[in-house]
Amino acid sequence: MKFLGRSRSHAAAFLPVCWLLLKTLQLGHCHSYDNRYAGDKVIRLIPKSGEEALALQSIYHQLKVDLWQPSSISYVSEGTITDVHVPQNASRTLLAFLQETHIHYKVLIEDLQKAVENENSLQPQRNRRSLSEYNYEVYHSLEDLGRKSRAYKRAVWIDCGIHAREWIGPAFCQWFVREAILTYKTDPAMKKMLNHLYFYIMPVFNVDGYHFSWTHDRFWRKTRSRDSKFHCRGVDANRNWKVKWCDEGASAHPCDDTYCGPFPESEPEVKAVANFLRKHRKHIRAYLSFHAYAQMLLYPYSYKHATIPNFSCVEFAAHKAVKALRSVHGIRYRHGPASQTLYVSSGNSMDWAYKNGIPYAFAFELRDTGHFGFLLPEMLIKPTCTETMLAVKNITMHLLKKCP
Ligand SMILES: *[C@@H]1O[C@H](CO)[C@@H](O)[C@H](O)[C@H]1NC(C)=O
Ligand SMILES: *[C@@H]1O[C@H](CO)[C@@H](O)[C@H](O)[C@H]1NC(C)=O
Ligand SMILES: *[C@@H]1O[C@H](CO)[C@@H](O)[C@H](O)[C@H]1NC(C)=O
Ligand SMILES: [Zn+2]
Repeated sequence: MKFLGRSRSHAAAFLPVCWLLLKTLQLGHCHSYDNRYAGDKVIRLIPKSGEEALALQSIYHQLKVDLWQPSSISYVSEGTITDVHVPQNASRTLLAFLQETHIHYKVLIEDLQKAVENENSLQPQRNRRSLSEYNYEVYHSLEDLGRKSRAYKRAVWIDCGIHAREWIGPAFCQWFVREAILTYKTDPAMKKMLNHLYFYIMPVFNVDGYHFSWTHDRFWRKTRSRDSKFHCRGVDANRNWKVKWCDEGASAHPCDDTYCGPFPESEPEVKAVANFLRKHRKHIRAYLSFHAYAQMLLYPYSYKHATIPNFSCVEFAAHKAVKALRSVHGIRYRHGPASQTLYVSSGNSMDWAYKNGIPYAFAFELRDTGHFGFLLPEMLIKPTCTETMLAVKNITMHLLKKCP
């Protein structure tokens, strides 16, 4: 007791000093990520012809741009939106090239370093309020502590942050847990969901990559594993699954952002989740994975253009979920098979879950459609999570009913 008291008062005494220090650092020019994005731009291009697409592919290769959208240079095609993050020393070359070839473009972000710093400094105070109003200073009966549940409950798996830079994902997973705890007693839908289903939630799938995106490179996508031959690190944890592994839409080169890895489940993060899902697949009814950005709700297949056997049930669930989402703030999501709605990609978790017997497999691409891209401001966490919550609840309630 004494020790606790003393350390607390120490902490209290140091707190304002730390805060002051932090403020000073913020006001001074303490750049995040070593100022590495200074002068970098994010540019949107939509090639109008196959010729333009080829020209863009080659200049992207040459300038080593960081592609935000789509995930791989090979997807750059006529009529497809491409958002590229261009390093400062390359942007003049790219802009000159675009003017010369008369390819139409739009600068989405003029100075990426400024945008990153905006993300860090203009955010509201981080709120560390306690999660629930559960009173820990009274004695609780067994009924208070937990309900008797059926020995065998169906389950929903949710993961967020397979891709490191998509920060809104982990924010949503945490939001989901908070909502479940806070509204269980008052919201009949939440009560029904939690009484009838288990929820397995993985808030940050790619932990090392996520950490790296905080400390070194805000736009890191892959894991952080090492390769024995190449100096490049990391594997795309959403191309590392054993379902048409390393085929279309994945790269076999360790330096690429969509690198599929040396073999399926090479990444410990993927292996661990795959093992868990294999073990529990009989009672897991839904697999939900959270990504950004595009505003889409996707279902299988992703690796081929074909219709899944239970298309009508899944399509119906997706259609309703998107409608429910839109009812909150009017945000429109496209929905459909990933191969048609986004692009063909092999070796991803959603297809794998579906192939392994989980009948409802979805991938969300959350806000926005490119205005902020990966730098979705904290101010938009609440509206994004609120509307997404409704979509997830809608899908989940669907699982409790018989599919028409
Ligand atoms: C830009 O700078 C990076 C890192 O300093 C370098 O690797 C790259 O080759 C440069 N690109 C151009 C087009 O000058
Ligand atoms: C799901 O969303 C649709 C469309 O908004 C709505 O009509 C339906 O009532 C919702 N279902 C549940 C269970 O929330
Ligand atoms: C399709 O639906 C039927 C009936 O609900 C179900 O038994 C079957 O497992 C489903 N198959 C798939 C692949 O989802
Ligand atoms: Zn992603």
